[in-house]
Amino acid sequence: MSNTTQDKNIMAYETVALDDENNALVILDQTKLPSSTKLVNLHTAQEIWDAIYLLKVRGAPAIGVAAAFGIYLLAKGIEAQDYDTFYREFCRQKEYLNSARPTAVNLSWALNRMEQVCVDNKDLPVSEIKQRLKEAAIAIKEEDIRVCKAIGEHGLTLVKPGDGILTHCNAGQLATCKYGTATAPIYLGQERGYNFRVFADETRPLLQGARLTAYELQASGVDVTLICDNMSATVMRNGWVNAVFVGCDRVAANGDTANKIGTSVVATVAKRYNVPFYVCAPTSTIDMNTPTGADITIEQRPAHEVTDMWYEKPMAPAGVKVFNPAFDVTDHDLITGIVTEYGVMRAPYEESFRKLFERKASEENKKL
Ligand code: MRU
Repeated sequence: MSNTTQDKNIMAYETVALDDENNALVILDQTKLPSSTKLVNLHTAQEIWDAIYLLKVRGAPAIGVAAAFGIYLLAKGIEAQDYDTFYREFCRQKEYLNSARPTAVNLSWALNRMEQVCVDNKDLPVSEIKQRLKEAAIAIKEEDIRVCKAIGEHGLTLVKPGDGILTHCNAGQLATCKYGTATAPIYLGQERGYNFRVFADETRPLLQGARLTAYELQASGVDVTLICDNMSATVMRNGWVNAVFVGCDRVAANGDTANKIGTSVVATVAKRYNVPFYVCAPTSTIDMNTPTGADITIEQRPAHEVTDMWYEKPMAPAGVKVFNPAFDVTDHDLITGIVTEYGVMRAPYEESFRKLFERKASEENKKL
């Protein structure tokens, strides 16, 4: 079920929400933006899987939150009263949702965290486990907002008022629950009168930069200029860019990062023109089980996204061979710093991440 909403500022919408009373995961359909603002109610595993695969909900953190609400709703619908049957069915649904997209680690991160809630509470009645799952999913969403804000604060220390900032794809509010990751320093700077000039790469083939980033920044009053992907060298050579901020889908233990296809080109160009290149990543995106970028699975997407999808008629000969990887890996030596909610991580990244996770564990222990 879906409904097209009234005309209000895009920033007033929630990217992902839970409507528990109606057993629905409510998402803002990002494939319709910017021309139409449509909220979609998802109920079944198939609907949730499709929405993630088709990028109706997209961006690593938003995918994680959608999966958390999604698995809660699917768990709520499991009729079994005994733990073993409930848990078996939970894991089946979890694996299905997890198969929707391979690169963003936030998907499996959120689903594993939800599974842990079942395991930790296995002695409780199934109805009580369902309640704990709901609380956990809400906590994941609330955490996302806090984490993005903290990334914004740390990112803001890396730039000055009036700076030019370039970003690629959409790591904005639409990719998270608020602020975004790469856009968080921009939004906090906007609130504090920094007057940044932002360049948004259009981001072929699915145009997340044009349709989403340019749209949400403009709606927020940020000075944003849309450029085609092949123009980033020109704006950097002109001296218009003081820093690049991008998001990411997975950070390997050695600091290599996977983000939207084209990101590594931007990083290479930034190195050529001495522009600092920052990757903004919640700690949930750092995957210490993936040693290097070469170990990250890169999602391959269908050919029609390149040849036809946003055009009135095909823009390539029928049957042409197409290579359409959705992400690429930026080698850690091209990255100036990785901005997390705990601060800016610098090379050597293995060492920085080790200390980061020690600090995180000790702060979490103190809260218990
Ligand atoms: O294919 P998408 O649109 O989901 O790709 C999104 C990106 O590459 C984002 O930069 C990344 O997920 C970070 S979002 C905060």
